[in-house]
Amino acid sequence: MQPASNRIFVAGHRGMVGSAIVRQLKSRGVPEADIVTRTRAELDLTNQAAVRTFFAEAQIDEVYLAAAKVGGILANSTRPAEFIYTNLTIEANVIDAAFQSGVKKLLLLGSSCIYPKLAEQPMREDALLTGTLEPTNEPYAIAKIAGIKLCESYNRQYGESHGVDYRSVMPTNLYGPGDNYDLETSHVIPALLRKFHEAKEAGVAEVVVWGTGTPRREFLYVEDMAAASIHVMELRKTEYEEHTEPMLSHINVGYGDDVSIAELAEIIAGVVGFSGEIVYDTDRPDGTPQKLLDSTRLNSLGWRPQVGLEEGLRRAYADYCSSVGA
Ligand SMILES: NC(=O)c1ccc[n+]([C@@H]2O[C@H](COP(=O)([O-])OP(=O)(O)OC[C@H]3O[C@@H](n4cnc5c(N)ncnc54)[C@H](OP(=O)(O)O)[C@@H]3O)[C@@H](O)[C@H]2O)c1
Repeated sequence: MQPASNRIFVAGHRGMVGSAIVRQLKSRGVPEADIVTRTRAELDLTNQAAVRTFFAEAQIDEVYLAAAKVGGILANSTRPAEFIYTNLTIEANVIDAAFQSGVKKLLLLGSSCIYPKLAEQPMREDALLTGTLEPTNEPYAIAKIAGIKLCESYNRQYGESHGVDYRSVMPTNLYGPGDNYDLETSHVIPALLRKFHEAKEAGVAEVVVWGTGTPRREFLYVEDMAAASIHVMELRKTEYEEHTEPMLSHINVGYGDDVSIAELAEIIAGVVGFSGEIVYDTDRPDGTPQKLLDSTRLNSLGWRPQVGLEEGLRRAYADYCSSVGA
């Protein structure tokens, strides 16, 4: 594990992924004193001067960059300026200030939305920049692509001279403790957990699921994502370089299998204990028929997920119940 003196900054530690990374680091024996965190009130990562001062003083050795402005389709399509500006600024500020203060190791968290809308499935890393992006979250995706290219450019310019080794991982859809259960802005798993739970509590006979139920999606439990992030961060430089290219360096993090929305709804109904009917509102749009990452690169680097979908959903439901006091 990490030597005791290794100071690790987890940016975005109150978010779903950042909090899981902090839990995993602690469970692997990293002393609490070596895990550095700042709330947004303490350090606004869009404030370049504040970020520079923080890095100049905090003596950070490694950075997990899990802070980002994240949102669903509605937020992305109504506030595109905020999504591109905030994410570009956080990435540029953190990566450059980390470099200026001598940080050698950094891991950027991106997203599978970096790939073209019509990318061949499953999506390999080399699908990046081969086609047009999904328009609804294009500004967010462009910021994430810029993040990958920032890491690569610092590696290419300062890798040999300064020992810079900045990596990036692209997660599939994540779920688990700390998820957002607000029905206006949530992703499909937290939305369905809540809908089925509330229907069960209220004794409602049916739950309406948007779309036909046929699109296939991939889901990864957030603790697995945190474990994968630490795995990638801790790979030897030679091993990372053998499996990546200087200008194609990001690594997909997927579960490796997908499920139809109808299958997902059945599993969630079972986990929640909802025994009524599931009805599909086919007037609602389905979105793309399939979204699945090719995680061969990560698998060949020795990592596989540990938590199956049903088990992960049980744990996520327990988290939901405790968050609503059920
Ligand atoms: N969730 C998913 O399904 C998913 C899938 C693929 C990729 N990812 C990626 O994983 C990363 C983390 O996502 P998440 O789901 O953990 O998001 P999240 O729960 O919304 O957490 C994001 C964190 O970033 C912090 N943050 C945002 N703007 C900040 C600023 N200006 N200064 C300081 N902190 C700021 C937030 O602080 P506050 O608590 O103050 O808001 C929050 O703690 C993102 O890069 C995202 O693209 C997530």
